[in-house]
Amino acid sequence: MGAAGRAFLPAIRGHAGFELAAFADPVAEIRESVAAETGAVAFADIPSLLAGTSLDAVYIATPTELHAEHAGLAFAAGKHVLTEKPMAIRIEDAQAMIAAADRAGLSLVVGHAHGYDRPIAAMREIVASGRLGRVRMIHTWNFTDWMYRPRRPDELAIALGGGVTFRQGSHQFDIIRLLGGGMVKSLRATAFDWDPNRRSIGAHTVYLQFADEAVATAVYNGYGYFSTMELVSDVTEWGFTEPVGKRPPVRRSAAASTADELEAKRKRAKTAIPASAPHQPHFGLTVVSCERGDIRQSPDGLYVYSDRGREEIAVRNDRSPRDLVLDEFAAAITGRARPVHNGRWGLANLEVCLAAIESSQRGEEIVLKHQVSIG
Ligand SMILES: NC(=O)c1ccc[n+]([C@@H]2O[C@H](COP(=O)([O-])OP(=O)(O)OC[C@H]3O[C@@H](n4cnc5c(N)ncnc54)[C@H](O)[C@@H]3O)[C@@H](O)[C@H]2O)c1
Repeated sequence: MGAAGRAFLPAIRGHAGFELAAFADPVAEIRESVAAETGAVAFADIPSLLAGTSLDAVYIATPTELHAEHAGLAFAAGKHVLTEKPMAIRIEDAQAMIAAADRAGLSLVVGHAHGYDRPIAAMREIVASGRLGRVRMIHTWNFTDWMYRPRRPDELAIALGGGVTFRQGSHQFDIIRLLGGGMVKSLRATAFDWDPNRRSIGAHTVYLQFADEAVATAVYNGYGYFSTMELVSDVTEWGFTEPVGKRPPVRRSAAASTADELEAKRKRAKTAIPASAPHQPHFGLTVVSCERGDIRQSPDGLYVYSDRGREEIAVRNDRSPRDLVLDEFAAAITGRARPVHNGRWGLANLEVCLAAIESSQRGEEIVLKHQVSIG
């Protein structure tokens, strides 16, 4: 019930297919406040949650390095699993999660929330229609203050799934793979750690090549100077308007102590991700270049540039990305549809995150071998 967990409360409340029956969190204050707010039964750990209830499904929003262990417990207890991204921090752990789901005949969905943004789905539809020809280049660039938002220490520790390549790159790689079809052949990356007072990967540039010779760049800068909101009409990541010129400068000094920072993170978690917003959510600027036109987001949908000039396409804004994650999870559980964001898709995403970090460390191109296509 941290930032990610809390963000799902309105989506679960509003979804006909789900009811929040119980949750687990080791922090007593969180248990008390969320139990009071939701009426759900609170447990201090996941084994007692699983033993003390008869749930159908579990949503795992614990720190990334714990997802594999927690998914393993849930599968052993016969529950379907929705897990946060990235699904794990090691390929073997992701493989074990997939094997456990397959053995038990249970669903595993990896909720890369920004890949569910409606404008990204609308871009995919245009690409699939063939109207603009083949996708040749995808660029997704995001400049934020990620590094200076309050964090748990492990969120900055690369070996524990911290830093922007794991945490934010996983959204970018999901967007890129959804738009490019999934089959990334190889990549080359440089990751940066340039603030001596806040050690982690805070920025990266990743160049990806698809099997069909399309290419992509994922650029992320979490050091909080320029914001890509400025290129999306001052619309924030979650769809609110917030004039960039009026934002106070980002505070780059560390909190007084780890405990203070944790406290600030817990406070922020309550409102960090809103349930709905007047405009479309986005993850920075995404531009898709096809043979006969380009596509990028507008505040309320897409701009399509073709021989017809620039058209704006309005995109529905009646369901949040989290509503759509739950739709995909419900369809998977009931067998109505095979989820795109299944375990193998999540594993392929994790492979890109790991390869980007390795490429930067070794100064070499990395060839990928766990990619899957969207079909
Ligand atoms: N999809 C998104 O947009 C999005 C946004 C934020 C975070 N995330 C992902 O969600 C995960 C959590 O990140 P966060 O920012 O919400 O962190 P957080 O620290 O805010 O939340 C983690 C929660 O897990 C609890 N926890 C820790 N150990 C536990 C255990 N053993 N059993 C049960 N609960 C335990 C903590 O008390 C805390 O409440 C990460 O994998 C992150 O990448 C996704």
